[in-house]
Amino acid sequence: MVAIVGLSGSLRKGSFNSGLLRAAVEAAPAGCTIAAESIRDIPVYDADLEAGALPARVAELRAAIDGADGLLLVSPEYNNSIPGPFKNAIDWLSSSTTGGEEIFRRRPVGLIGASPGPFGTLNAQTAWLTVFRALAMRPWLGATLYVMGARGKFDGDGNLTDADTRRRLEKYLAGFAEFVAAATR
Ligand code: FNR
Repeated sequence: MVAIVGLSGSLRKGSFNSGLLRAAVEAAPAGCTIAAESIRDIPVYDADLEAGALPARVAELRAAIDGADGLLLVSPEYNNSIPGPFKNAIDWLSSSTTGGEEIFRRRPVGLIGASPGPFGTLNAQTAWLTVFRALAMRPWLGATLYVMGARGKFDGDGNLTDADTRRRLEKYLAGFAEFVAAATR
């Protein structure tokens, strides 16, 4: 059984990206589970705060990621790049001061995202590649999933309603799960 942790980079109630992650949980291929996690309750990174007790949510998320075989990031795009709250979460999780860098090293990572615009988080996904390199992760580059025009593909609660996107998601996840299963850390 391949265990994947999925992390949405949005805190918004009707988030397209959290909805895409929920759809991914449902669309996980046979032999694979995807557990949806959230970046909620992670404070703004502060090295002085880190010198005290590690925030509980950071410790919890590290344990969840560490216990999984792969990580699926579902990223919105802000100003053609990675949204600050999502990058902040990864910075906390990866901080070497409290032993975080090993969580990501050689870990298989998939990346998908949705936006109302015409490029479907293309720029944010490109920006994530430098982060994956910094963390020595193993990105799956076998396919891409950019969900554009999200307002027409999700309902008001952020649930995916578009059948074609669901099919593309299933295909993406099948390839990613195969990659994760074949990877050895
Ligand atoms: C955006 N949005 C956006 N979208 C995009 O495709 N490219 C972009 O560069 C930006 N820039 C941007 C900046 C800021 C500050 C905000 C708040 C938003 C729109 C964004 O894709 C939209 O708000 C999505 O709904 C965010 O994802 P969730 O929260 O629905 O998952």
